[in-house]
Amino acid sequence: MQRFEPNLRIPGPTGLPSAVREAGGRQMINHRGPEFSAMFGRIESRLKGWFGTRNEIVLLTAAGTGALEAAIVNTLSPADPVLAVTIGAFGDRFAKIATAHGAEVTKLAVDWGRAAEPALLREALGRDARYRAILLTHNETSTGVTNPIPDLAAVARELAPEALLLVDGISGLGAVPFAQDEWGLDVVVSGSQKSWMAAPGMSFVSVSERAWAAAGTARMPRFYFDLAQHRPGVAAGSTPWTPAVAVLFQLDVALELMEQEGAAAVFARHAACAAATRAGLVALGFELFADQRYASNTVTAVKVPDGLDWKAFNSELRKRRLILAGGQGKLQGQIFRVGHLGSVTLDEILGAVGVIEEALVAVGRPVSPGAGVAAAQQAGLAALAAAGAGSAETVVASVTGSDAGASGGVVER
Ligand SMILES: Cc1ncc(COP(=O)(O)O)c(C=O)c1O
Repeated sequence: MQRFEPNLRIPGPTGLPSAVREAGGRQMINHRGPEFSAMFGRIESRLKGWFGTRNEIVLLTAAGTGALEAAIVNTLSPADPVLAVTIGAFGDRFAKIATAHGAEVTKLAVDWGRAAEPALLREALGRDARYRAILLTHNETSTGVTNPIPDLAAVARELAPEALLLVDGISGLGAVPFAQDEWGLDVVVSGSQKSWMAAPGMSFVSVSERAWAAAGTARMPRFYFDLAQHRPGVAAGSTPWTPAVAVLFQLDVALELMEQEGAAAVFARHAACAAATRAGLVALGFELFADQRYASNTVTAVKVPDGLDWKAFNSELRKRRLILAGGQGKLQGQIFRVGHLGSVTLDEILGAVGVIEEALVAVGRPVSPGAGVAAAQQAGLAALAAAGAGSAETVVASVTGSDAGASGGVVER
């Protein structure tokens, strides 16, 4: 049992506002009844706004990886040529799913830490454009990079107009502006445990008319993830299999909170938290891993400097209840990551930077306490001002509502 809440700063699952947590404890309802249908309808229609789409959005009871698998198996046939544009561990995973189901995958692999530049895709499609699908990652959580999806989509549409664009939007949607229809994306997926401020367990698949047409002829085997089995239920407010009702209770409340806050304020809050994180860490002498032109507003990856023992440092962080994520795959031990998505406020970021300062002092690094926090606060406030979002207090109050302090307060120490 813990007296104090940790400051969970990993890139998902994210901490939950208290109203969302309570919603998860509600009594079950009939998942074939009118109350469920109404809730399903609210969730689906609210998600459309954040995806920037008029498509039907299928709600799957699955981790995000399940939704990625659904995107593949519903649109492709074995031996279909697929171009997987990968800039990190999750782009690699998307490629692996396609390979596992028998697609002929060509990888366009970019150095980790960099974005996929549109010119690179232009060059690749200039060599060969006969792809049935192009796989893209919106926000690469393993490296803290956000790809320029509209520009990549424009190149793909120009040079490979027949290719379906399948996009992993798991860790970016809901935190930054997104416009699926305007950008011409065919399938976009996301997951409940990221910016949506709910527990893990649900994922979302937005399917364009072109992708539904492809599903009519796609021959990859599927059953649980067969989107055609889900489609009739989207309008009716039901799912073919028993859904994770408790997670949907949470999503219903979380989306209501996001709507109350307003999209512009949600985006400004994420931009401010990201700017504060980056500035605070740089002021403490860390080097950021990502190409800063494409720095993510939901997760920041930081190089572990020479001479800093990550395990000892992390243990000092944990003692102070700050939970960060380590590096994934080949970046294990080389970077650490700070998540700033979902129910995150500037004061939580300032608290995290403060703890990082303390931990650095504890492991004997030469830092001057306060330097990181000051830089973080200045950058965060400047980002808010640039977004015209007013004071940090306004933003904090609007995300926590009448629950001020329950989810948005700094970690008690
Ligand atoms: C970009 C991205 N893609 C895919 C996934 C996989 O999602 P899940 O762990 O829910 O299967 C994640 C999870 O962190 C992610 O950030």
